Amino acid sequence: MTRQAIVAANWKMNGDSALVSSMVSALASINLPSHVDVVICPSFPYLSELNQKITAANLNDAIQVGSQNVSEHDSGAYTGEVSTAILQDLAIHYVILGHSERRSLYNETSLQVAKKVHVALNAGLTPILCIGESEAERANGQTESVLSAQIQPVIDEIGINKFNDVVIAYEPVWAIGTGKTASSAMAQETHQFIRQFLAQHNEQVANKVPLLYGGSVNAANCEELFAQADIDGGLIGGASLKAEQFKTICLAAK
Ligand code: G3H
Repeated sequence: MTRQAIVAANWKMNGDSALVSSMVSALASINLPSHVDVVICPSFPYLSELNQKITAANLNDAIQVGSQNVSEHDSGAYTGEVSTAILQDLAIHYVILGHSERRSLYNETSLQVAKKVHVALNAGLTPILCIGESEAERANGQTESVLSAQIQPVIDEIGINKFNDVVIAYEPVWAIGTGKTASSAMAQETHQFIRQFLAQHNEQVANKVPLLYGGSVNAANCEELFAQADIDGGLIGGASLKAEQFKTICLAAK
């Protein structure tokens, strides 16, 4: 089964105009593989600037822009929030939802994440739904139950068929920003579990959902991770801030 390969950059609360320019120039200097969707998710203030630079470099077919969050509310008195309508207005295509930093630092629940996935899909955005277990949960053998409990509310909210338009990023919390990458075998085993979990609801949909791995992916380990049968690309944090590393990671996607 051929699935869409995706390499997504999550700049988190990093980056500036200079990075927007240098990243677009760096990516314009290589032949990005046509079978890979490259997605760059800067913080909100740089979304437009990034989109404009991508258009100016004639890279609209190769690079998409994503945001790192969206509100579950339509509009109104929600100071500091950004709605799906605003993202639509800015011609944004992807949105990262349920990142572990949002879950742990801002207390986002799986129910809230499910609502965000729903409003994002309604607005024509592609959600990158992040799931992942903590170090203690893995040590206690709870990885599968934690991942199931993060996915099930989304299935309940949108229905399994809508997963045709959802990307899932598996990011073990203990591997994020720590340099401790899951081994390719461990990542593959977990991705296989996620696909099987989705297949219990609908096998055809499960086979189509791109599953990205995230957590200390870099230029040195991406090739082996991306070679795994159920790993369809990556969600890249730290290494996506370095143009040379990010280029290598994009070129390694299968
Ligand atoms: O969203 C990206 C992940 O949190 C991974 O971050 O590559 O810096 O470990 P990292």
